[in-house]
Amino acid sequence: MPNTTTAPSVVVAFDETLPDFEPEPVSRRPVATTGLVNTFKALPVTLDRGDGSWVWDTEGRQYLDMYAGHAVASTGHSHPHVAGAIAAQARQLVFYSNVVGLEVRDRAAGKLLSYIAAPGGITRALFANSGAEAIENALKMAVRHTGRNRIVAFEGGFHGRTLLASNVTGTEKYRAQAPFNVDGIEILPFGDEEALRRAVDDRTAAILVEPVQSMAGCRMAAPSFYRALRDTATGNGALLVYDEIQTGIGRTGRMFFSGRDGVVPDLVCLAKGIGSGFPLSAVLVSETVADGIAYGEYGATYGAGPMAMAAMLATLEVIEQESLLANVADVGTYLERGLSAIPGVEAVQGIGFMLGVRTAVAAPALQAALLERGVIVGTSDDPHVIRLLPPLVLSRAEAGTFLHSLEESLGGRQ
Ligand SMILES: Cc1ncc(COP(=O)(O)O)c(C=O)c1O
Repeated sequence: MPNTTTAPSVVVAFDETLPDFEPEPVSRRPVATTGLVNTFKALPVTLDRGDGSWVWDTEGRQYLDMYAGHAVASTGHSHPHVAGAIAAQARQLVFYSNVVGLEVRDRAAGKLLSYIAAPGGITRALFANSGAEAIENALKMAVRHTGRNRIVAFEGGFHGRTLLASNVTGTEKYRAQAPFNVDGIEILPFGDEEALRRAVDDRTAAILVEPVQSMAGCRMAAPSFYRALRDTATGNGALLVYDEIQTGIGRTGRMFFSGRDGVVPDLVCLAKGIGSGFPLSAVLVSETVADGIAYGEYGATYGAGPMAMAAMLATLEVIEQESLLANVADVGTYLERGLSAIPGVEAVQGIGFMLGVRTAVAAPALQAALLERGVIVGTSDDPHVIRLLPPLVLSRAEAGTFLHSLEESLGGRQ
């Protein structure tokens, strides 16, 4: 059974100033599996298994997972309903491509779309395998649908590492890694309505936005900015594309960010938590866009395969049956309040289970200190912001355990 250490009911505030806190950075082991290309700085942990909000390493050490493997383990680790559905589907039919019909595909797609139905809005889904692939497909749809070739995106947004996805990514570090520059892409300051109005015109195919910028430390814009995105897109005949690869499937306390502030985009990209960790992505499309798509224009061999569809259907069932949207809203608020009361926490940004926590401590050092205390968190592109992206099943008690560990790590409790 997962450890459910009782939460401190009140986060105690300390008067004394924070001691200097610069523990040695996490020792970066070479990747545990030899033979892999060295693309990620791995934490010095080799995991063995998981259950709910907890994971265990090969030495039996237990960690509270406030990161969910890059915001992926939406229903928690190895949820029995999801694991059972994947196993049952594997016994029934591991794979057949979309050259045939599949009942599980119809049921899963129907259920996904039932959460977003909006009058005259999104009614169809195109499935692929990764987030970057969803972005590529959505931008291709926008370009082909409008017959235009310009794309507007935003500073701080992250959209993936393929050629087009890295070009529309608004963080210099990742853009610089694109193999070459694609023409027609303009990156604007996030939240700047004036810059948006100036940049978008009748040559713009798509306005692409990550509504809560995760890599930037879970940054959000004012509600008027999202409405300006919709108005500017509509006014200029461009398509509004929401990258909901992290915000989608419950992470903000609603199934999608789309619909918030009265804004329904034309295209929605999903990945990460959609299959609880089974590789899957989707672009949700309005009827008008879908109608213009010809056979053969899009496709992915594995897209909408039976295993991925079974994983997605089970994920959506768990979210519904366990009232996980309400859980995210409730525990997210609890976390935000608790964080704000911890000495040393300078700001909390984001929403629901997408929270950036700013402190004076360098994020990698704080991450290392938390890992020492058995808690996994993420860093971000902001050197002083750690990211919390826990499984949607995280309970108040588990959130309390985290708050306690953070307070200890910041020197408030010894
Ligand atoms: C908001 C967002 N968009 C796109 C991507 C790219 O997804 P993938 O790594 O599955 O290609 C990511 C991945 O971190 C993401 O967070």
